[in-house]
Amino acid sequence: MSRSCVITTEEPNWWLTPPAEASCEVGGTEQEPSAERANGWDRQPVALVRFADSAGLADWVASLLLRDRLLRPQRPLGLATGRTMEPVYAALARQVNGLTPAERQELRRRWCSFNLDAYVGVDRADPRSFAAEMASRLTTPLGLDPERVHLPDGQADDPHAAAECYAAQLAATGGIGLQLLGLGINGHVGFNEPPCEADAPCRCLELSPATRMQNAGAFGGDPEAVPQQAITLGLREILAAERLLLVVTGGAKAEVLARTLREPPTPELPASWIQLHPRALVVADGAAAALLDASCEQGELLA
Ligand code: GLP
Repeated sequence: MSRSCVITTEEPNWWLTPPAEASCEVGGTEQEPSAERANGWDRQPVALVRFADSAGLADWVASLLLRDRLLRPQRPLGLATGRTMEPVYAALARQVNGLTPAERQELRRRWCSFNLDAYVGVDRADPRSFAAEMASRLTTPLGLDPERVHLPDGQADDPHAAAECYAAQLAATGGIGLQLLGLGINGHVGFNEPPCEADAPCRCLELSPATRMQNAGAFGGDPEAVPQQAITLGLREILAAERLLLVVTGGAKAEVLARTLREPPTPELPASWIQLHPRALVVADGAAAALLDASCEQGELLA
């Protein structure tokens, strides 16, 4: 029997436990870390927190990001772009507005984030770039120092060297603390396109036709207009984060989410590697979790 997913209604205790002391307590039940192994790696239970409505989900995820910056600023925050994250950043901006001036100042002082990915060949000032997206949704509304919001340099003459440089910059900080992740329709996280091994490093790669189709909306609906290449943190850097937070919304992702959590980890579904992480939390709305609901009870393990 696989133990790939536990449905829970709240943040599990082990999620906040410092790495060296984690006990994998989920839903009030002590679980030994799974002894099941996949490709030589330990496979761990993944907790799924399900929200009936997307607004509640965005608020909750935003509160986790805010708390991470205020309480655990030692390591940088790993951030993602995409439609899933738009309401999350809007909720974060609202929550930051509700802080006292002193708290806001502290947040700005402690802020350090590294984004997962960037298109190659898209100018930072181009509204379709992830840099522009982060500036308008995060840096400006939160009043952050842009120097503290890091993204790969998609405009570099040599994007392969830029990827190496970005990995080195991240490594110099000690690596990601909390890593926010979205899910691609083809199972990618960041821009780690299938097939992708769990130790794939930060690199420049070719985007798949499926991803260019998924992201065509920002390019006038034309997949051919979507850049052919991107720089992405690899599964290596993602899995090295202290904690993973995968956010999935909408019925279009129901099938890939169910496969991500149920199938043994495989290069064909890069997101499935999160099963190897000891502190992975999945947050989904009802539509995205629909295929998991059918076979899960609250607090029960998926078979
Ligand atoms: C994109 C990005 C990811 C993003 C994911 C989901 O292609 N590379 O960082 O999280 O795919 O995107 P969306 O939220 O728009 O569905």
